[in-house]
Amino acid sequence: MKFRSCLLPLILLFVPAFLFVSAPRSLRQAADSAGVLVGTAVRPALLSEAAYAGTLAREFNLAEPEDAMKWWVLRAHTDNFDFRQADEVVRFAQAHGMKVRGHCLVWGRDNPDWLAHGHFSPPQLAQMLQEHITLVMRHYAGQVFAWDVVNEALDENGNVRDSIWYNQPGIGLSGKGTAYVERAFRWAHEADPKALLFYNEAEGEGLNRKSDAIYALVKDFKTRGVPIDGVGLQLHISSLDFDLAGLAANITRLAALGMQIHITELDVSLPVDSKGSVIHKEDLTRQAEIYRGIVHACLHSPGCTAIQTWGFTDKYSWIGSHSRGVRGQALLFDRGYQPKAAYSSVLEQLMVGRNSSR
Ligand code: XIL
Repeated sequence: MKFRSCLLPLILLFVPAFLFVSAPRSLRQAADSAGVLVGTAVRPALLSEAAYAGTLAREFNLAEPEDAMKWWVLRAHTDNFDFRQADEVVRFAQAHGMKVRGHCLVWGRDNPDWLAHGHFSPPQLAQMLQEHITLVMRHYAGQVFAWDVVNEALDENGNVRDSIWYNQPGIGLSGKGTAYVERAFRWAHEADPKALLFYNEAEGEGLNRKSDAIYALVKDFKTRGVPIDGVGLQLHISSLDFDLAGLAANITRLAALGMQIHITELDVSLPVDSKGSVIHKEDLTRQAEIYRGIVHACLHSPGCTAIQTWGFTDKYSWIGSHSRGVRGQALLFDRGYQPKAAYSSVLEQLMVGRNSSR
């Protein structure tokens, strides 16, 4: 009798705990166990849609404003900063125990017209950029744990891209390669010494000339003590032959330089018809395998600490307008917020965790 009365509370204690451990009910539960962040880009205007907000809070422990921290939103007008949209995302994340990534402080695109066509001089641009980095990072200090300081500075050959910040006319470092990127990282570190500082890039995920240039940039910065903590790999995938082995090798070499790697903008777009339906049904299975392989590649390296998709429901994705409607269905949930095969494969692979060769 005595024995049974001791046993019962023990059973009650362990049975629910066991169920919890063995069957995560969401990506974020599985990600917490695996020791990785699972995130998504967020549009503040959609937070009022119950299914959007509910899915976001249930599934993700990381959020990044899709556009709301870009120059054209924060600084639509010359004379003031407008933090309202970005603040909404940050408040939502805080209310639901999610971390926030900031995107992005320096980019040649998504700038307001008054800046892009303002004919500012290099000293004026330098002053404006330092002010921007400083004010934005201080506004979110302690709330945004990692920033994409510079986005897409390199072209497909690994050369520094033409941009308003580099050479059109630039901040005074035109023709000096990645010196303007370095300046931005130094300003960012001064603005918020606790934030993690990332270089974020597209199409430099596998092994190619661009990823070689990213590697060289990071190595140079590390050697000379330029503050950089990580590399963001965007991973907008449009080929179902995506080279997973190249991605794994690239993650490994960046991690060996002491970098954190964040997968920042993952989506796997498929050919769709004029109604937005997938043309080849089997593509959804292949898509799920690519998602699984990416989670596997990330979890395989201790340096890879976040996996983030660029939105989560096919109802709202940049791919539609970006591809003029010929591609779509790129995300983990369908238009009705139902999980797709890709969702199941991500969940399963997160449940496998970091210490497995599977
Ligand atoms: C895209 C957004 O998804 C769109 O809403 C916006 O109109 C254009 O920018 N690389 C990036 C992201 O770093 O900021 C881009 O986001 C997608 C490509």
